[in-house]
Amino acid sequence: MPTTDPQLMDKIVSLCKRRGFVFQASEIYGGIGNTYDYGPLGVELLRNVKNSWWQRTVTLRSDVVGLDSAIIQNPKTWETSGHVQGFTDPMVDCKKCKSRFRADKLEDARCPERPSKKPGECGGELTEPRAFNLMFKTNIGAAESTSSVAYLRPETAQGIFLNFLNVLQSSRVKPPFGIAQIGKSFRNEITPGNFVFRTREFEQCEMEFFVPPAQNEQWYEYWRKERLQWYLDLGFDPSKLRMREHDKSELAHYSTGTTDIEYEYPFGWGELEGIACRTDFDLKRHAEASGVDLRYFDPETKERYFPYVIEPAGGINRIALTSMIDGYAEEQVEGETRAVLRFHPEIAPITVGVFPLVKKEGMPEKALEIEKELRRARLSTYYDQSAAIGRRYRRQDEIGTPFCVTIDGDTLKDDVVTVRHRDSMQQERVKVAELRAYLAGAIASWKRPATA
Ligand code: GLY
Repeated sequence: MPTTDPQLMDKIVSLCKRRGFVFQASEIYGGIGNTYDYGPLGVELLRNVKNSWWQRTVTLRSDVVGLDSAIIQNPKTWETSGHVQGFTDPMVDCKKCKSRFRADKLEDARCPERPSKKPGECGGELTEPRAFNLMFKTNIGAAESTSSVAYLRPETAQGIFLNFLNVLQSSRVKPPFGIAQIGKSFRNEITPGNFVFRTREFEQCEMEFFVPPAQNEQWYEYWRKERLQWYLDLGFDPSKLRMREHDKSELAHYSTGTTDIEYEYPFGWGELEGIACRTDFDLKRHAEASGVDLRYFDPETKERYFPYVIEPAGGINRIALTSMIDGYAEEQVEGETRAVLRFHPEIAPITVGVFPLVKKEGMPEKALEIEKELRRARLSTYYDQSAAIGRRYRRQDEIGTPFCVTIDGDTLKDDVVTVRHRDSMQQERVKVAELRAYLAGAIASWKRPATA
């Protein structure tokens, strides 16, 4: 099924709500524009995506350390970083309906007049474009004065630059090395959209990799390849991924070169992650503004210098959504449509469904005992004893559970269960004593099915 299927996004949105991945935020009050909450399955998916990113970026490497910096920093941070001045979108206002639109995205915008029209088609005059800052402002303390203004961070990266010296002095690191962070960021987007693809509140996974300036190109190349490989290893369809170099007019104010890893969404190609060359822009500016020397002193060459920075930056929510879009398939099985989410088992919200074949003859008790064992092995499980077995498999397929374990009459005699695989739908008999090792092996050796 091509993902240009116009109904694919609708199917994902409906599945998200029905099965508890994503809910509209403040739904009982009518919602709040493009803001979402994550339900029991969604929160597991997000957590697993974060764990996978963290393991790949930090745990498995000796040259990257982690950080968790504050969302609200001293406002000078954002003056110095250029965000107060330059983190803007050009906006136009309609003088008739008073709506505001991105001047560079007028083609995609719809005005709130019914029937919905393009901006300006309602007869209203559009103002000249004006720069609109995307940072959310807040106030610190009881008084709302200009001196109490602070900002919710629009990127986690600045917290990393502010702590560059702290990390250097407290940890045994030297360039080339990275500092990684996962955390919420906020952007007052005027045109968020496509479900959780672009939201005002989102979770970033960013890593600033500090290198000697002469090694900039080699590390840029390295991180472009390494980051693409992560998506391939997660099983994303290679034909839906591409690398796109920004042209000069698109570059962020801090970047001399950026490559986007793009995915072909049902609504077109879009950014999945950006890998940017930030040079020494941020460290230099913070050093100048704070008066603190943020250069690295190399004890071997006796040279003091500002490292250059390569930054891979992605959005956890967007990666999770993409894993659903990429993994979703519908197949005809025994005259019925089977909907399946082919998540990598590492990120699937539930790893194992556990079922007694029937609700009697000691099978539920045995199944619950096995389920408890699997939970103790830190596997995420789901026990289900209702409905016919085929129906239970389908329910797990739809939420992407890679394995189901069925306990039948024989299990009570020989301690052997049936393991059913989501992708191939094949079944194997496995001894209960070997079940944990069997599942660990199946998770580690998982590959995207060739036909998917
Ligand atoms: N730090 C890069 C970004 O927020 O997109």
